[in-house]
Amino acid sequence: MSKPSILVARAIFPEVLAQLQQVFDVDHNQDDVVMTHAELRARMQGKVGALTTGSERIDGPLLNACPGLKIVANMAVGYNNFDVDAMTKAGVLATNTPDVLTETTADFGFALLMATARRVTESEHYLRAGQWSKWSYDMFAGAEVHGSTVGIIGMGRIGQGIARRAAHGFGMQVLYHNRSRLAPELEAECKARYVDKGTLLREADHVVLVVPYSAASHHTIGAAELAQMKPTATLINIARGGIVDDAALAQALKDRRIAAAGLDVFEGEPKVHPDLLTVPNVVLTPHIASATIKTRMAMAQLAADNLMDYLLRGQTRTPINPEVLQ
Ligand code: 8YV
Repeated sequence: MSKPSILVARAIFPEVLAQLQQVFDVDHNQDDVVMTHAELRARMQGKVGALTTGSERIDGPLLNACPGLKIVANMAVGYNNFDVDAMTKAGVLATNTPDVLTETTADFGFALLMATARRVTESEHYLRAGQWSKWSYDMFAGAEVHGSTVGIIGMGRIGQGIARRAAHGFGMQVLYHNRSRLAPELEAECKARYVDKGTLLREADHVVLVVPYSAASHHTIGAAELAQMKPTATLINIARGGIVDDAALAQALKDRRIAAAGLDVFEGEPKVHPDLLTVPNVVLTPHIASATIKTRMAMAQLAADNLMDYLLRGQTRTPINPEVLQ
């Protein structure tokens, strides 16, 4: 009996690929060539499942071209690369990888906050460039982290992870803004106070963005919001490109309207707004918040498990649109 055909759209851990090859006929991309949308559509034809990352867009035209498709398993917790309504309409199950990356990503959010506040990369560039000839009292003086106020926009699992680190590890005051308030027990555990967005922007020393991307969260931070922040404040984005208006941020950093920013995600990445590359007061990383071997392995395994569970046993682990099953 022939095995069901799937596409693994990007390179993944060979041991996870090997598990999939035991039970599926796998069209893989271990050379990790990023496909155009047309190439992806062509490669998906005739497949019942696909393992994707945030780089592959699954939309109506692609689904129309792939009538046999049953599931797309994203190796990411965020799924703004999926048109979930179109997938549900087409009867295609969408899955993501929640939980397995929460603490690792919160660690990185905190690393970026600290590197930004304490000017770690800026001072390293200065040292590497041979510019360090003497110590001085205000050399690379940055912003305080312990005891300061962090404002978290998007208080899901990762936001709560950052709140716990801030409150319990660094004695910070935690403000948060979210679509809905947390349950009182969770607020108490995170020592977090719910405020409106304006209050958060005005009062926070460090603003951290962990909100999922959608049309509603597009440019959550633009020129008007940057103008409300303290001139000494830092802005950290580990959410998605498009949550921040990168052009407006580059201008605010140039004008020292805010002190500094730490960015792991960018509008139109892997392209980065050219002005962000020239301002010194920004820490830039290439979308690596979940990048530890252990966590990336857990994400790949969960995506593969979603494919195997659904296609071989009709079961789901982490569905985004479970209504497809009814
Ligand atoms: C992924 C992420 O590495 O999980 C997410 O939503 O942003 C990252 O952990 C990236 O999206 C690749 O799929």
